[in-house]
Amino acid sequence: MKILMVCLGNICRSPLAEGILRNMLPDNFTVDSVGTISLHEGEHPDQRAIKTAKNHGTDISGQKSRPITVQDLQNFDHIYCMDLSVYEDVISLAQNEEQRKKIALFLEAAGNYGENTDVPDPYWSGMKGFEKVFLLLEDSCGKIKTKLLSQNS
Ligand code: 4NP
Repeated sequence: MKILMVCLGNICRSPLAEGILRNMLPDNFTVDSVGTISLHEGEHPDQRAIKTAKNHGTDISGQKSRPITVQDLQNFDHIYCMDLSVYEDVISLAQNEEQRKKIALFLEAAGNYGENTDVPDPYWSGMKGFEKVFLLLEDSCGKIKTKLLSQNS
């Protein structure tokens, strides 16, 4: 089972979600992350994301940003988008219904949807913003993990 997390720059939200979910799942799951823009291609996650993850026992320092490709929509089984604008960009890349069905809003898939479609982008915030986003991602990844494990059994 292959899981892809998607945000805008692939240096804050989706690398955190990748690291958190990977730590929760057994080894037969693959977890990766990408961005919808290539601005930060080849860069490691934002230092604030690396530090926040480290404080919670998650190492994301080895990850590198890359932009999404059409092949990703073929290769991955579940594609989770961090906000509505990312979701719309990813849906626009889908070539058929099978691919469209793989793409979901992350918070909606976690059941943490409420009124809020978006994991807030912490890029423009301080460490407090990263901590808040980490806790939201951790809670949501826990719920997604339960769903994936029940589907996969
Ligand atoms: P991310 O955050 O999508 O959570 O990785 C951002 C990172 C960089 C930029 C925007 C959002 N940027 O515009 O450079």
